[in-house]
Amino acid sequence: MLKIGVFISCFLSLILFFAPETGSAQDVSILQGWKFKTGDQAGWAAPAFSDSDWAPIKIGAPWEAQGYPGYNGFAWYRLHITIPSAIRDKSFLKDRIRFDLGKIDDGDEVYLNGSLIGRNGGRGGTIESGVWDQDRSYTLPLADSRIHWDQDNVIAVRVWDRNGDGGMYDGKYGISINDVTDYVRINTADNGFQFGNNKQVSKKISLQSVSPTYDFTGRLHISVADPISGSVVFKQTLGIDFAKDRPFEYTYKVSLPENKSYQATYTFEEGRSKKQLSVTEGIPFILTPRPPATPRINGADVFGTYPNAPFLYRVPATGEGPLTYKAASLPATLKLDPQTGIITGTLAAKGSYKVKLSVRNKLGSATKNFTIVCGDKIGLTPALGWNSWNCWGLTVSDEKVRASAKAMADRLASHGWSYINIDDGWENAQRDADGKILANSKFPDMKGLADFVHSLGLRMGIYSSPGPRTCGGYLGSYQHERQDAASYAAWGFDYLKYDWCSYGEIAPRDPSLEDYQKPYKVMQEALASTGRNIIYSLCQYGMGDVWKWGNQVGANSWRTTGDISDTWGSLSGIGFKQDHCAPYTEPGHFNDPDMLVVGRVGWGPSLHDTRLTPDEQYTHISLWSLLSAPMLIGCDMSRLDDFTLNLLTNDEVIAVDQDALAKPAVRVADQDGIQVWVKELRDGSRAVGLFNLNDKAHPARLDFETLKLPSGQKLKLRDCWRQQDLGVQKGSYSVTLPAHGVVLLRVKAAQ
Ligand code: GLA
Repeated sequence: MLKIGVFISCFLSLILFFAPETGSAQDVSILQGWKFKTGDQAGWAAPAFSDSDWAPIKIGAPWEAQGYPGYNGFAWYRLHITIPSAIRDKSFLKDRIRFDLGKIDDGDEVYLNGSLIGRNGGRGGTIESGVWDQDRSYTLPLADSRIHWDQDNVIAVRVWDRNGDGGMYDGKYGISINDVTDYVRINTADNGFQFGNNKQVSKKISLQSVSPTYDFTGRLHISVADPISGSVVFKQTLGIDFAKDRPFEYTYKVSLPENKSYQATYTFEEGRSKKQLSVTEGIPFILTPRPPATPRINGADVFGTYPNAPFLYRVPATGEGPLTYKAASLPATLKLDPQTGIITGTLAAKGSYKVKLSVRNKLGSATKNFTIVCGDKIGLTPALGWNSWNCWGLTVSDEKVRASAKAMADRLASHGWSYINIDDGWENAQRDADGKILANSKFPDMKGLADFVHSLGLRMGIYSSPGPRTCGGYLGSYQHERQDAASYAAWGFDYLKYDWCSYGEIAPRDPSLEDYQKPYKVMQEALASTGRNIIYSLCQYGMGDVWKWGNQVGANSWRTTGDISDTWGSLSGIGFKQDHCAPYTEPGHFNDPDMLVVGRVGWGPSLHDTRLTPDEQYTHISLWSLLSAPMLIGCDMSRLDDFTLNLLTNDEVIAVDQDALAKPAVRVADQDGIQVWVKELRDGSRAVGLFNLNDKAHPARLDFETLKLPSGQKLKLRDCWRQQDLGVQKGSYSVTLPAHGVVLLRVKAAQ
């Protein structure tokens, strides 16, 4: 029956083999002992080469974070490792050995004892066209003579980094023998959790074989447990069988005792080998109560505009419709539509205009003081919106943008979400005869699209690069900056993301501060000449410590890191390392730790549910809000599930992000994997995030002294996600947090 070995050995050693997401545990750890050198020499692959003077390096974080800021190009990693024959002997399938080398930014070639065993060259096939966001898993037959069993082996990884972060930055690492369970997928991603009445949850899972020959039989154990107490609230075992074209599908139902974090674990026990394969996932839990039916005005308290620039603001308000809007003391040159709450017009004179917004429905009314600041700054609070990249990648189209705009207008705008941004992939292959940039056939009518978005009271963003080409290989703005800014303005754009990409070919190899700033100044001047309120968002991955000078080139925000992906490694690696740039944030100028990875993401064309657990997603939004970060939703908003919608529409959490003081949180405690971040808010209160970075539940404690509140030790606490008061507490607050979980508090002096 075990024909599987024959099938698999047909794979050539150079073929990139994608490891199953649900693979078996790693047999040999390769986390420690790596050496590193920038540059490129063929001899560095040789086992006999002496790397004793190379620097040690950690894998699992980019080299930029380990003493090589701004380094792009070639570099090598080397590791000496013994591969014990015991791992081969104990394996059930005497099949192939697998080297899991995580994700590598951007391309790589992997050598074992001097000979090439794998390459990720993306579609182009060369190391320079490698794809950063893919797991590297290279396999060899066990009989391959290049493996030195029980002796020293040298793994040498040649890396090419195009721009931004580089190196072996994230993922799964180890050496293993492929086993039966490596040919099984426990698929949890195709169907989301369904919520019924009385905390009833159901979920359809399926088990699939990727072996054309092996018929699997065995048992499936399903269990649901409280990750904090460990108590099991549901257990079921099923006898199952499945094969390549015959998946096993099953829907289980469970009643959850409380509205909190639970973990479901699916363990397949293979009948013949007795090997086990387990997948655990978090069950979404909705914390935020629905907004009341009575009216409420949400969103920031301030909004900036340039003199004489077209003004567009939609008053974000919840409550049962129809709602009627009013604005007392609104300057005469601005008009509010009482039915839609959309304010348009222009303001000529600089100054602060204090307006009283009000909204009414049959159940009552609400008011809010709102300041319009007409002056040299816009984007006074971090941008809240959507960007096409993390879902559609280069497959973005007019239709997809419209669907997201419609969804934002219907479901999110009432909470302050307002930008609809097209990322890379909209540009035509050629400019017109006059050098004017054109949209490609996926965007037949850019002006019409922007008009549509504006008609919903939303603003519209676009993307380009100061280089000749964008990161996706489309036309950039190099030497056409004025012309392009004029086109964006004529189409009606309100936001530009300007992405370094191929400008690396124009700038000198070791750019000076001036070189880094130059292209961004050019575009700043071009944008200023349009007279529109265009948010200017720099994307150059943090090079040259952009946070120190982004405001000097007129940027409203600047990316501080390489690209985010929907893993805990990526999210936590970025989010919890933002403290060094935090002091440079001020109203109108924000650090940007990259876009949100919640909901259905995928970088196009096919999407999947984010791989972040529900707890990790609460952490994501809490941390970004504490950091005063721009929040750009990166999912298909036309398919927002209840959990994701709830996550993005908690007005108390959004208020932390949009606080007009714009003071990002600072880390006040970091011990045993628990971090506490505190953000000063304009009303004198504090927003506090208690985070558990451990892989297991862990107690956390907030010591009130760290808050530096003048009132001392007696404080009023409120849980922002649950929108519940926790009462007056003295001295400290303690809570046990699930793995990668958070509690976000608003804390103020007790009267
Ligand atoms: C870079 C940016 C991403 C996205 C792509 C588009 O990688 O960092 O956010 O804009 O380019 O090609």
